[in-house]
Amino acid sequence: MRIGVLISGRGSNLKALIEACEEPGFRGRIALVISNRPGAGGLAVAEAAGIPTLVIDHKEFSTRETFDAELDRALVNAGVELVCNAGFMRILTDGFVDKWRDRQLNIHPSLLPAFKGLHVHQRALDAGVKITGCTVHFVRPEMDEGPIVAQAAVPVLPGDNAETLAARILEAEHKLYPLALKLVVEGRARVVGEHVVLDHDGEAVTGSLFVPAEK
Ligand code: GAR
Repeated sequence: MRIGVLISGRGSNLKALIEACEEPGFRGRIALVISNRPGAGGLAVAEAAGIPTLVIDHKEFSTRETFDAELDRALVNAGVELVCNAGFMRILTDGFVDKWRDRQLNIHPSLLPAFKGLHVHQRALDAGVKITGCTVHFVRPEMDEGPIVAQAAVPVLPGDNAETLAARILEAEHKLYPLALKLVVEGRARVVGEHVVLDHDGEAVTGSLFVPAEK
């Protein structure tokens, strides 16, 4: 399966996906990485792995529709069959999302449906939750909504601040996204009635990945 990855920043999740695709027998490969920001660190990550990159700078487009049309054109030209948002910080139009329905994944650093949107770690701390985590889900037009493929639970520890919590969750993200991608490329994560049904060797498995906090 040819995968297109959308990024806006440093690309640590992109790196985890690249490493997953390099595993023997992995049924997907990254055909193109697109950044909406010219200086995104993830571009260098892709280039170091020999993966074609493209910058489509949203600032050069007057509307979201024209930006998304360019994004779509580039993905189609590269033969992309599955889109992975990896720290892609643009809201996509309904038209784009509908076109890639059930063929676009996103990772979000909270246990959705809790803490959608931005500043999630500070909001989790402010709410006093004891467990948070990350979620990989199929993209839907509503922000941070869509059928959940897999989640990882991460504890909030005494003394945490937004940075320490973000770092602990990021480690879990790097395990979760490759796992979720593997399930999807192998056809073992199917959307049925807006829920994801997972299959493992013919048997249903839980979508939860519990990642211990200890190093
Ligand atoms: C990750 O924590 C990802 O979950 C988050 O941005 C970070 C990107 O880091 N995404 C979102 O908040 C999307 N709503 P990375 O560039 O190192 O992968």
